[in-house]
Amino acid sequence: MARRRQLYEGKAKILFEGPEPGTLVQYFKDDATAFNAQKKGTITGKGVLNNRISEFLMTKLAEINIPTHFIRRLNMREQLIKEVEIIPIEVVVRNIAAGSIAQRLGIPEGTRLPRSIVEYYYKNDQLGDPMVAEEHITAFGWATPPDMDDIVHLTLRINDFLTGLFLGVGITLVDFKLEFGRLYENEEMRIVLADEISPDNCRLWDVKTNEKMDKDRFRRDLGKIEEAYQEVARRLGILPEAGARDMKGPETMQ
Ligand code: TMP
Repeated sequence: MARRRQLYEGKAKILFEGPEPGTLVQYFKDDATAFNAQKKGTITGKGVLNNRISEFLMTKLAEINIPTHFIRRLNMREQLIKEVEIIPIEVVVRNIAAGSIAQRLGIPEGTRLPRSIVEYYYKNDQLGDPMVAEEHITAFGWATPPDMDDIVHLTLRINDFLTGLFLGVGITLVDFKLEFGRLYENEEMRIVLADEISPDNCRLWDVKTNEKMDKDRFRRDLGKIEEAYQEVARRLGILPEAGARDMKGPETMQ
């Protein structure tokens, strides 16, 4: 069987050349890393669940006219996406203090923030993804001021929409990370949502118990990691029929 040409391998995903120009295939691995890959592990079935969860959320966002790179899911671990030029910025939105903001500013984890806060990190593993200001982003040309206007506007709409969507299934959207790309189509450039939205890059807490249902279970060795990812999919109504057993089988690449 002919394997597609691999273009890039990241910590949790691999990008392959797509079937047509301007498309890529995004493959979701079970590999998990934390703290800039100092901690490594495998979360069985994670790739299958994140592929499905990201498909679901990007499709919902497209329905409210958020442009995304997502085209369609191909199989258990792969989705077809539009090729975009990734903007080297991780956009983090926080609704409740947790993780690095709790540590850096001494805010007890779980404190609701006075308003949603958007932060930027420069995507550079060697530097450990340092936090940057919009000033750095525009001064160094990683994105232009009009790009940033689009990014902030999209990010806040995505936050509002996803907050409501998760609340509807008993989950608090504490914070999450987004990536954007430039899509060139018909001589025009548009900023679109890229990468993935999954429990790998969101903090999701049960509304009633505040139990963590995301990658913090791996980062902080809390156990029941697979179960947490499955529970998110189950609540969203998208857990594959046969449950976890369905997810461990070998994946055919065509
Ligand atoms: P933080 O509190 O560690 O800064 O993380 C904020 C959010 O961003 C959290 O939902 C996890 C996500 N995140 C990533 O997706 N990738 C990363 O490399 C980091 C550090 C955080």
